[in-house]
Amino acid sequence: MKKFTSVEDIGPLDKAVEEALEIKRNRFAWTDLGKNKTLLMLFFNSSLRTRLSTQKAAMNLGMNVMVLDVNQGAWKLETERGVIMDGDKAEHLLEAIPVMGSYCDIIGVRSFAGLVNKKADYEELVLNQFINYSGRPVFSMEAATRHPLQSFADLITIEEYKKKEKPKVVLSWAPHPKPLPQAVANSFAEWMAKTDYEFVITHPEGYELAPEFVGNATVEYDQHKAFMNADFIYAKNWSAFKDPNYGKVLSTDRSWTIDRSKMNLTDGAFFMHCLPVRRNMIVSDEVIESEKSIVIPEAANREISAQTVLKRLLESL
Ligand code: CP
Repeated sequence: MKKFTSVEDIGPLDKAVEEALEIKRNRFAWTDLGKNKTLLMLFFNSSLRTRLSTQKAAMNLGMNVMVLDVNQGAWKLETERGVIMDGDKAEHLLEAIPVMGSYCDIIGVRSFAGLVNKKADYEELVLNQFINYSGRPVFSMEAATRHPLQSFADLITIEEYKKKEKPKVVLSWAPHPKPLPQAVANSFAEWMAKTDYEFVITHPEGYELAPEFVGNATVEYDQHKAFMNADFIYAKNWSAFKDPNYGKVLSTDRSWTIDRSKMNLTDGAFFMHCLPVRRNMIVSDEVIESEKSIVIPEAANREISAQTVLKRLLESL
């Protein structure tokens, strides 16, 4: 594997999950693979899980790890070509990227959508510059339109907890006070489309995701109806995708918050969320603290998804 930015890079999902579970059983079996290899993790945005789980995964493989928070301690970076750099940005990404590439063997990048220019976000400008100019294998630690390490961990978790061969999985929009990217929802939908699960997306009108990510999923505007007989509820907020409201919060309607009464409509569904989560906006205390909440094992599987991806990237060096 030469890069990892979407589900398309990972190959057959059954093989990927099988490999991930083997790694989970014996995560220190490949400590020689990363010896004398360096991972650079680059964050344009904040992170708790991605930062720690990916660093741990790299250490499990024997790698050296460098972490750079671009907005804290590095020069401010210009990303657009043709800009007259007379402002506060001292360095252009087009010099910074090959320089960073010269210090490492693999690069992980986190760069969220700006939520102002849909075209720039959906062209993945920043991530693609790293792919094109770093000279190194690049993997996404959440980009403008996808969060594949999260989706891979979500899939591993569903495979571990499912009680039916083909569970019903529901992606539910839930309210949030601030505009969030569509990346987690897009990516989750994209990965679910590659499974044989029954997959339903529910959200208020106006929150339709990009058609290329919705694919053949069932879209149900009635959240109660969507939850009927579900085996997994995957909660997430996202801002509007459709013009003219791209990147906007259209509703903070707390009737969409996931609470006990809604979970009672399901077939004893497990509750999932990528975290961080705003309690009593996205989900009630009662639901996230219930025995059906699997948000902690889901987050723990981030180490496993990251290690599987890093192992494959190292094997291709
Ligand atoms: N789920 C996730 O990516 O968490 P962080 O933003 O804390 O990395």
